[in-house]
Formats: sequence, C-alpha cells, structure tokens
Amino acid sequence: MAVDLLLGLQWGDEGKGKIVDVLTSKYNIIARFQGGPNAGHTLVFNGKKHVLHTIPSGIFHEDAMNLVGNGVVIDPVIFKKELDKLAEQDVDYRKTLLISRKAHLILPTHRLLDAASEASKGKAKIGSTLKGIGPTYMDKTGRNGIRVGDTELVDWKDKYRALANKHEAMIDFYDVDIQYDLEELEKDFFEAIDVLKSLTFIDSEEYIFQAMKSGKSILAEGAQGSLLDIDFGTYPFVTSSNTTAAGACTGLGIAPNKIGEVYGIFKAYTTRVGSGPFPTELFDEDGETMGRVGHEFGATTGRSRRCGWLDLVALKYACQVNGVTQLMMMKGDVLSGFKSLKICTAYRYKGETITHLPYNIDPENVDVIYTEMNGWKEDLTKMTEASQLPKELNDYIDFLEKELETPIKIVSVGPDRKQTIFR
Ligand code: IMP
Repeated sequence: MAVDLLLGLQWGDEGKGKIVDVLTSKYNIIARFQGGPNAGHTLVFNGKKHVLHTIPSGIFHEDAMNLVGNGVVIDPVIFKKELDKLAEQDVDYRKTLLISRKAHLILPTHRLLDAASEASKGKAKIGSTLKGIGPTYMDKTGRNGIRVGDTELVDWKDKYRALANKHEAMIDFYDVDIQYDLEELEKDFFEAIDVLKSLTFIDSEEYIFQAMKSGKSILAEGAQGSLLDIDFGTYPFVTSSNTTAAGACTGLGIAPNKIGEVYGIFKAYTTRVGSGPFPTELFDEDGETMGRVGHEFGATTGRSRRCGWLDLVALKYACQVNGVTQLMMMKGDVLSGFKSLKICTAYRYKGETITHLPYNIDPENVDVIYTEMNGWKEDLTKMTEASQLPKELNDYIDFLEKELETPIKIVSVGPDRKQTIFR
C-alpha cells in the first residue's frame, strides 16, 4: 500500500497537528520524517489543547502506531517532557510509540551551539527556535552525529564526550557570551536518555517496508513548511531539513514510487515566525487583526507570528515541489469580518511580472500584485457542512482551486477536531 504525505505549504504553523489528528482514524501508522522539537503541533479535542513537538500527532488514538523516523532529530530532554505530559493524560504510549535507531540525537551542546551561532550573527540571525536543530543536522551531514542506536553500544559515552568536547571548543570560537553549566545539562540529558532507552527502538525502514507489504495504511507527517525547506525554502532563513515531499523518502526510507496522496495544508492567509523575506507581510490593522483573531503565537517559542495576505505565487510553488494532490485550507474562520480580501497572484520582479517564485524574494526585489475579493461576515466556527459556507468564501475557495489546479478537500473553521468541513 502507498504512503500518504501530509505537508505544510507555507512557513510552518499551518495546522498540521490538527489535520493528522482528524485523519488518524484512516491510518494504521503515523510517521514523522524530519525536524524535531522546533515543531509545535497543536491538537484540540474534548475542550483541551495538546501540543506535541517530536511525537507524531496520532499518539492520542489507541489504535494507531506512531513512528519517529530516521530523518527526525530528537532532544531526549524535551522528548521526556512530552512523554510525562502524555502519561498525565493516561496515554499508554509504550505500546504505540516506536523510534528509529537511525534518528540523530540533539545533545545539550548542540543547543548551546545554536545559541552561540545566532548570537554571533547579530541582525542577520535566522530567528531559530534555538532547539539545536541546525547544529545537529550539521553533525549528521558532517558524519559526526550520535544516533539513537548508538546508545545501545557499550562505548557510546566516549563518543558523546569527544563530540561534546569538540562542541565546547566551537562555542569558545564564536566568542559570544553564552553562560552554561554543562554538568547540570548533562545530568538531565543522561536521565532522559535512560527514559528514551526504555522505549522501543526499531530499524524503521524495514518496519515501514513490511507494513506497506502487509497492506497497512501509513501517513507521513511533515513538520515546518515548504518555504522553510533547506533546499527550496527562503534560504538561509530556513530550517535544516527537507520539509518537502522528498524529505519523507529520505526521512523514512520510502521509495518515491510508493507515495500515494500528498495532502498540502495552508492557512487562508500567511504567517511566518523568525527572520526572512515575506512579500505579503502586513504592518497595518489587517495584519494585527489576523494575529489577534488567529492567536498567532508560536506553539514552541511563544513568539508572535508575522501575518499577511495569502501568497499564491509561493503556494503554487509549494504545490509543484511537493506534487500536492489535495489541499486543506485552515483558519478560514479568522478572515470572517474582513470587508475585502487580497490574494497575491503575481510579483513585479526586476521590471517583469512573474508568477513563479524567483531566487531572491527580498523586499527590494519584489513588489506584490494583488487580486481583491469580497470578504464574508458570517462566523464559520459553528458550521459543520460545506452547504453552510457563505457565498464569498465559496468564491474565495473556487478562485484558489482554479489558480492552484488542485481541489480543496477540507476547510477548517476552528481549532477543534470537530470544526472540520469535508468537501
Ligand atoms: P530552527 O529550525 O529552529 O533552526 O529555525 C529556523 C527557522 O525556521 C526560524 O525562522 C524558525 O522560526 C522557523 N521554524 C522552525 N520550526 C518551525 C515551526 O515548526 N513552525 C514555524 N516556523 C518554524
């Protein structure tokens, strides 16, 4: 059976956690394939909010298996906190959570290096979540990393020490003021490693292969968004993994011809956290309203998100890079009450009108061309059927479907599982 993918198409925070949770009943296995605790996947059900960082969003469903794939980077300390929260809610994760031996570990010194690197950049900083993501992936590609499977070896602590010593020298090299007590950090780290080791480690590519062979349904859950992809995002203001469809192949060991549906998630407007270009960003009351009504604060860092109109140039690009087969539009409810809505349909770039995403979208290179549409007044949050959606919203959806040449199958009208309209 083919593996379906679920991917964010913007700069992250599209609402992937909610949709995975909604779709989980259709799948036997939910698998994360990249990123780490920089992600914050929010799920709301039974009146309660749950935030997951590294653990797949299927964990609240008793019947689904949840796999942390080889492409993910794991901070054992944050992972342990997530497990503690699940235990408080009586989630029996031991039976349903599996971890790839090939996933890399985030060491305390990776986090310190992240902080030192950002501090040294001054105004040019990436706006990283400072979870150690970049330094960990650097050690992975530099062939110095420590993997989950290493913790099963007798001499792994020697390897750890050598790498941590090297990191300390690198932190000194940055020549910035980073205060830390490594002994204290290591105490928490090794305690958390023991907890991690009490879980089930597997050779995950073999597990996925056998699961496909025996007809199990699998959903690969992406983190961050396509515009934060290390290759196709707004480099260098990106994360350090492939957030696009190809990342699911390398992050789980799935062959490209085994991919089925590619669900692409986008917000009805656009948000971004951290630094980097954002052509449709708003600095006015409209942007402020989107942020306030949409509760646009990072689930991991609490930082307020930058807000702006929907950018179809960027969205079309994301659909192409990922081969999206179905779209899901989130947070349409946040746009209720806007008299008119703008949609970016082209850029003015170096004197030309273009509809593809160019190499450089820094503000000095790009002017945005908008199409304007009528807004809707109705509160969408209690609606349950597509037939209840206001005409102006249907016009907005029709316009997007035509431009993106892809059907919008789900319209989300609130954070709760139940606030989901299937079309
Ligand atoms: P890092 O991955 O923590 O190094 O952060 C790199 C950039 O990606 C920063 O601009 C972050 O704000 C952004 N970023 C990382 N993870 C997420 C996410 O899950 N949602 C939204 N933005 C993210």
